[in-house]
Amino acid sequence: MSEISKVLAIETSCDDTSVAIVGADGEVLALSSVNQDLVHEPFGGIVPEIACRNHTLNLLPLVEKTMEKFGGSWDDIDALAVTSRPGLIGSLMVGVVTAKSLALAYQKPFIGVNHLEGHILAPFVRDKEYQPASGLDFPFVCLVVSGGHTSLYLVKDLGSYEILGETLDDAAGEAFDKFAKTIGLGFPGGVKVDRLAASGNAQRFDFPRSMLSGDNLDFSFSGLKTAGLRLVETMTEIQVQANLNDLCASYQQAIVDVLVSKLDTAVRLTGLNKAVVSGGVSANSQLRREAQLWAGKYEVGLMIPPLRYCTDNAAMIGYAGLLHLQKGERSSQRLGPLPRSLSEDFKRR
Ligand code: KG4
Ligand code: ZN
Repeated sequence: MSEISKVLAIETSCDDTSVAIVGADGEVLALSSVNQDLVHEPFGGIVPEIACRNHTLNLLPLVEKTMEKFGGSWDDIDALAVTSRPGLIGSLMVGVVTAKSLALAYQKPFIGVNHLEGHILAPFVRDKEYQPASGLDFPFVCLVVSGGHTSLYLVKDLGSYEILGETLDDAAGEAFDKFAKTIGLGFPGGVKVDRLAASGNAQRFDFPRSMLSGDNLDFSFSGLKTAGLRLVETMTEIQVQANLNDLCASYQQAIVDVLVSKLDTAVRLTGLNKAVVSGGVSANSQLRREAQLWAGKYEVGLMIPPLRYCTDNAAMIGYAGLLHLQKGERSSQRLGPLPRSLSEDFKRR
């Protein structure tokens, strides 16, 4: 079996279309992404059918653009990787069908990758501006916080992941987005809450921090979401506008407190001193700051990807795919998209 050292990767699990070429050691040789924020904004959330249709329009031009950035030809690409689960089924379908077609046309092996595994490995990709502080070294604790997931994993080895805890209702990103919508910031709101919170008083409003007692590693954000809604209902539009910064800072602080506290518990319970925080919400400036402070205090080797690898991107999928392909794993042309993870992807502890 010939050595796999360069992979073209496709990510279309939600609304971002992304293509990357990833080389040995997770070096990102080219990356291009298109987001659909403006398309979905009028609907206040992602409309799956529209996301899917836009992937079909964006994907092949993006593959060509990424190949141009890379500067090589298809002869230089050894294999393809594609997010095949979990995600929006129509969106995933576009990526999977395209990857299979390219694999067939160019006679390359390919592999379907779990999107969450991509997030877990994201801090270990590298490029000209970013070198990870340490190489991929198992085991470690990983907190994936995104729009669809909030989970703590014990990452034992490549492909060997145990769920330590997960959200029982909303994901942290969802809690950010729903609150942003409630206070009129539009969609997607996480990054807007982050910006407004920077000059706000986080002690001004009291929001609940759920499930913090004991060693439980599951999360719940629905109480916080409801508390946000109830508080805003008691305020006039003018009051909300006048207090936007404090509202955002207080709400954000409630989420960050829970995330850092659970990460701390996970590290303590597993006895590990290495941790990763990844996923779209790991782009949050307050979370990054507080997680780094916590890590410094307890001497935990913490890795958080640079912003471009926090939110959905094909580079992390390429790296995950590359590692599996190098172990000899392959997908068949029968591979289809799945809205959920496979039971063997993550085991509950
Ligand atoms: O990982 P991701 O790009 O997509 C999913 O797999 O879901 O995460 C998207 C989520 C959205 O909920 C978005 O509002 C949130 O990440 N997000 C943020 C920030 N940037 C993105 N949340 C808080 N602060 C940010 N700076
Ligand atoms: Zn994601």
